Amino acid sequence: MRRWMVAGNWKMHTTIGEAETISKAIKEGTKDIDKGEIVLAPPYTALYAVHKVIKDSHIALAAQNMYFQDKGAYTGEVSPIMLKDTGCAYVIVGHSERRKYFYEKDEEINEKVKKVLSTGLKPIVCVGETESEREKGITEFVVGMQVKKALFGVTDMEHIVIAYEPVWAIGTGKNATPMEAETVHRFIRHIIGDVYGDSVAQNLQILYGGSVTPDNIGALIAMEDIDGALVGGASLKAESFTGIIRKVAEKR
Ligand code: PGA
Repeated sequence: MRRWMVAGNWKMHTTIGEAETISKAIKEGTKDIDKGEIVLAPPYTALYAVHKVIKDSHIALAAQNMYFQDKGAYTGEVSPIMLKDTGCAYVIVGHSERRKYFYEKDEEINEKVKKVLSTGLKPIVCVGETESEREKGITEFVVGMQVKKALFGVTDMEHIVIAYEPVWAIGTGKNATPMEAETVHRFIRHIIGDVYGDSVAQNLQILYGGSVTPDNIGALIAMEDIDGALVGGASLKAESFTGIIRKVAEKR
């Protein structure tokens, strides 16, 4: 059975003090949970502070982005070596907000995925269709291309996590139904199976993201191919994030 994962993407929220408070509460509220994986992705500025709170605990640290060089004259960028140094184990790559506001393209996302892996970190690779793409009936085409391009040339699938996040469901309060989400998750697993073989596909963790709350996670995690959640808004409150984690741990 695949391990579940619940990851909190705090986006551009929290000062260092706020991040410490939330991460302490999440650590406390989940200390009896010993299976699955809990991941926190605070902003860069709070990474080290959160690392100090969660080190030696069951919670792992993630960054929300990075640049695909080790170091150099890239003003404003942060390298995976620096992220590893702050205690990160994961990096979110290709989030739809980065694609939309910072014009990240599949080729750059692919460079990032490869760099994250070669640094010994694990990418959480985000894919998902927009509302108009879903209306046009091209969800699988779009998601399939995103997956293939993000993973182009990648052989080390063991350390990859994919997050399916329909763009229209992110931060909108709209949800994919469990069956809509399951259909895309199954499709992603199918594509991975075609390229890498069935056992790689069966071991791949695929998370759902988009307005996940303690109220809707139960039905989502009951789906066979949904292995957890990438949570935005609801991860900023320890109570709701802990509520999501508990529901997932109960069902898996
Ligand atoms: P949301 O964000 O849970 O606030 O919709 C999810 C995400 O962007 O990862």
